Amino acid sequence: MIRLENVHKSFGNNHVLRGLTLEVPKGTSMVIIGGSGTGKSVALKCVLGLVTPDSGQILVDGKDATKGDRDAFLARFGMLFQGGALFDSMSVWQNVAFRLLRGSLKRPAAEAREIAIEKLRRVGLKPEVADLFPAELSGGMQKRVGLARAIAAEPEIIFFDEPTTGLDPIMSGVINELIREIVVEMGATAMTITHDMTSVRAIADNVAMLHDGVIKWTGPVAEMDHSGDPYLDQFIHGRAEGPIEAVR
Ligand SMILES: Nc1ncnc2c1ncn2[C@@H]1O[C@H](COP(=O)(O)OP(=O)(O)O)[C@@H](O)[C@H]1O
Ligand SMILES: [Mg+2]
Repeated sequence: MIRLENVHKSFGNNHVLRGLTLEVPKGTSMVIIGGSGTGKSVALKCVLGLVTPDSGQILVDGKDATKGDRDAFLARFGMLFQGGALFDSMSVWQNVAFRLLRGSLKRPAAEAREIAIEKLRRVGLKPEVADLFPAELSGGMQKRVGLARAIAAEPEIIFFDEPTTGLDPIMSGVINELIREIVVEMGATAMTITHDMTSVRAIADNVAMLHDGVIKWTGPVAEMDHSGDPYLDQFIHGRAEGPIEAVR
């Protein structure tokens, strides 16, 4: 469903992606792990066309992601942004229904609100939350709203950027479980970025480790613990000693 081939991206002298190659089969959940600043978010943004690669190819469903109708392309995606990225000046339901209120997915406001309330319920939030503003919500509730927004238009492909960062371990567990359930029930293709190993085990079918701009290891989550890859082992166990330099 998603294929990145030898993707390079630099910002000035900062050569972030150095030949990234990765494949995500339809209906599967891929989790990308790696240290902070290794280019995980940049890789997601390349697929969405928010960042333009310097070279390489990105195919979504066999088609070049950088060509064709952008609106139709993006209508297939849902995204939970790192940090939630809710619009503070909009109520919760308007955030959730954001894409249902404009563009090619536009529908009448009353219908969009109904869908928003249904999606809020799906992520464990009561209808009363719909008319609150993001600043009135806890961090866990904001994540749930972001998740409801990501699934509101029933996308075929969903991206989750650091879905549990900033949450306590119990709330992280709840969000991980929700993500897994929703991806399975929607039959969506999912790509998640995280450095939370609990998320990896809860969400992934396949795992890919990004380091030095390339995928150092990729395989099924069940093979992660005996990969024999020193980079992956160091990351999984959070060791200070190993091939990954701790000082950056
Ligand atoms: N728009 C941008 N302009 C310049 N540098 C950027 C931009 N986006 C990301 N970077 C740089 O690219 C590197 C990777 O960033 P990012 O993908 O956000 O890391 P992470 O793996 O933590 O998600 C960082 O060094 C970051 O500073
Ligand atoms: Mg990031």
